[in-house]
Amino acid sequence: MQLTTTRLRLDGLRREDAEVLFRYRADPEVSRYQGWRPAFVDDARRFIEACHAVAPDTPGTWFQRAIRWSRTDELIGDVGLHFVADAEAAVELGISLSPAYQKRGIATEALNAVLGFVFDGLHKHRVFGSVDPRNHASIKLLEGVGMRKEAHFRESLRMDGEWADDVIYAMLDREWQACCTAKPHRG
Ligand SMILES: CC(C)(COP(=O)(O)OP(=O)(O)OC[C@H]1O[C@@H](n2cnc3c(N)ncnc32)[C@H](O)[C@@H]1OP(=O)(O)O)[C@@H](O)C(=O)NCCC(=O)NCCS
Repeated sequence: MQLTTTRLRLDGLRREDAEVLFRYRADPEVSRYQGWRPAFVDDARRFIEACHAVAPDTPGTWFQRAIRWSRTDELIGDVGLHFVADAEAAVELGISLSPAYQKRGIATEALNAVLGFVFDGLHKHRVFGSVDPRNHASIKLLEGVGMRKEAHFRESLRMDGEWADDVIYAMLDREWQACCTAKPHRG
């Protein structure tokens, strides 16, 4: 899976990405609401190695893509597609951007490309995101690409030794089709 947009290329994580991946994923602002947080560069190296072993659309796995600034080939973020094992044709999405590239519409551009791939390329039925209700940037992003709030689970996740709420945003294939025909461009 390689996707290109106006400013971005989404492709595989490379071994040489480990230090950059570590730097932004270990940043407290980026990792605050995330389940995975590397403590050392070696954790990022192991993460990339594990990604190489995963093929897209394998039930029960996260398929991880690099988000690169296409003009310079620089790694600026990553997006994960979780092919849920016990929910037919459902994909969970997760996205992280290096702080220097946030609030510039880049996550929106990347996510629209991924939604196009998942719905138009893989013909999935439902896409969802699980987000901490305090993660305003993420909620704004998911709402901005056309996902709607489906559920709010109170204190359903254990994060850093504390109970955290979990909010689910989702979109169905037919909603994507209606939404993207109304959109002048998908990014
Ligand atoms: C979630 C994340 C990828 C969003 O990236 P982003 O750079 O804000 O995305 P975009 O620039 O495409 O902006 C999307 C919208 O959110 C808005 N936004 C950005 N930061 C915001 C904030 N702190 N509070 C409220 N809205 C915000 C933008 O203005 C934009 O709104 P608009 O379309 O009305 O202009 C980024 O904040 C991030 O990497 N966070 C850390 C990792 C993380 O928590 N990931 C989610 C795990 S589920």
